Amino acid sequence: MQKKYQIITFGCQMNERDSEYIAGTLETLGYQKTEKIQDADVVFLNTCCIREKAENKALSLLGEIRKIKKINKDLIIGVAGCMTQQEGKAKKMKGDMKYVDIILGTHNLHELERMLNLVLQGKGQQVSVWESEGDVVEGMSDSQAYPFKSLINVVYGCNNFCTYCIVPYVRGRERSREPESIVKEITKKASEGVKEVMLLGQNVNSYGKDFKTRSYQFSELIRDLQDVEGLERIRYMTSHPRDFNDSLIEAIAASAKVTDQFHLPVQSGSNAILKRMNRGYTREYYLELVKKIKKIRPEAALTTDIIVGFPGETEKDFEETIELVKSVGFASAFTFMYSPRKGTPAFDFTDQVPLADKKRRIQELNRLVSELELKYNKNLENHVLKCLIEGKYKEDGKLIGKTSGYRSVVLEGDDSLIGQIVDVKIYQTGKQLLGKLA
Ligand code: SAH
Ligand code: SF4
Ligand code: F3S
Repeated sequence: MQKKYQIITFGCQMNERDSEYIAGTLETLGYQKTEKIQDADVVFLNTCCIREKAENKALSLLGEIRKIKKINKDLIIGVAGCMTQQEGKAKKMKGDMKYVDIILGTHNLHELERMLNLVLQGKGQQVSVWESEGDVVEGMSDSQAYPFKSLINVVYGCNNFCTYCIVPYVRGRERSREPESIVKEITKKASEGVKEVMLLGQNVNSYGKDFKTRSYQFSELIRDLQDVEGLERIRYMTSHPRDFNDSLIEAIAASAKVTDQFHLPVQSGSNAILKRMNRGYTREYYLELVKKIKKIRPEAALTTDIIVGFPGETEKDFEETIELVKSVGFASAFTFMYSPRKGTPAFDFTDQVPLADKKRRIQELNRLVSELELKYNKNLENHVLKCLIEGKYKEDGKLIGKTSGYRSVVLEGDDSLIGQIVDVKIYQTGKQLLGKLA
């Protein structure tokens, strides 16, 4: 009987990529993917702890999986991802969650095979999390979610310590991969049919700053990727406004492969709050950067992340965020209510904002973001845009594709188009862009 695995992934693209490595390892060991937990021999939860909600979701699902294990006693349960790296968490899980067989830290993926074998030999619960980051591990097997687009890690960890954020604690300090390894990996993927890459880092444009024996920055990586044959689109996530320097702007301006997607988390429009968040830029700097981007790419789709209700945020601070959002005219935005994370500086700030204020602010912000989204979409009406067709839209026979700006378009078309970049004319806008083959 073919052994099966399921992986449930929470959180960001780092976790999505890590799940592809977990999948790759399990497939090498003879497991086959299933979407049904009842069929699985191994189930992995790849967790996120960026906000309390993310953590609660993973924990409640783990409770459900535990019930399934009561029926299927041989089910192997693994927990990976950022939750396992929170201070004291792995130890606590080890004690409290005996039904979890494998606890796998964020830089321990290469240990999975060994740990799984020990579990299969009846050696009991296996725990491996990191205390110091160690070297970047190259050459792990992966199983990509899509054959035509790849997530590519370029820098691990984060050195920024924004005062609200748990990531530097659970992903460690910045460690960049050697450019040669990245270019080699992408060249191989492109030769196998990959048309689009998403270069990944928590702060992707600080890539290279940690190199001790060479000088090489993100803009140079962008330039070095231009010649990769078959590669048509280059995306990157997440760029930090502070590190979006002129050399990167120039490299993007010179590249037809870098897409129109500019995701630039601003977090707040108030200088006082930005300072307290330790973001390292002002609203004036951010607005200037947006100007520079619009100049080199008039078609740019600017998107952002915003936190409302950070400690000390007044109505006036919030109004400054609203003003900034209006003046940039984002194509869309991810908005969050501040969630205190234990171990981060802002957790201990005494001027926490009441939940009712956070809720009111996020509602007002979301209304504005929806308006801007409709406006952005409306401007695309009758435009012919290149779309990478990614797959089926909700099983109803239609296809879904992504524009260069990473907007989703729904269209009629044959399944054979999946994985192709085609011209699509936008004929209807609104919340959802509808198009037809041009
Ligand atoms: N590295 C990226 C984003 C990491 S997390 C960056 O620097 O932009 C994604 C988003 O989650 C952040 O941009 C921020 O808006 C939000 N976020 C992070 N910590 C949060 C917290 N404690 N409460 C609410 N939102 C948070
Ligand atoms: Fe978190 Fe800031 Fe690093 Fe982004 S840049 S991961 S928000 S600490
Ligand atoms: Fe979450 Fe970890 Fe990403 S905390 S947002 S999965 S880096």
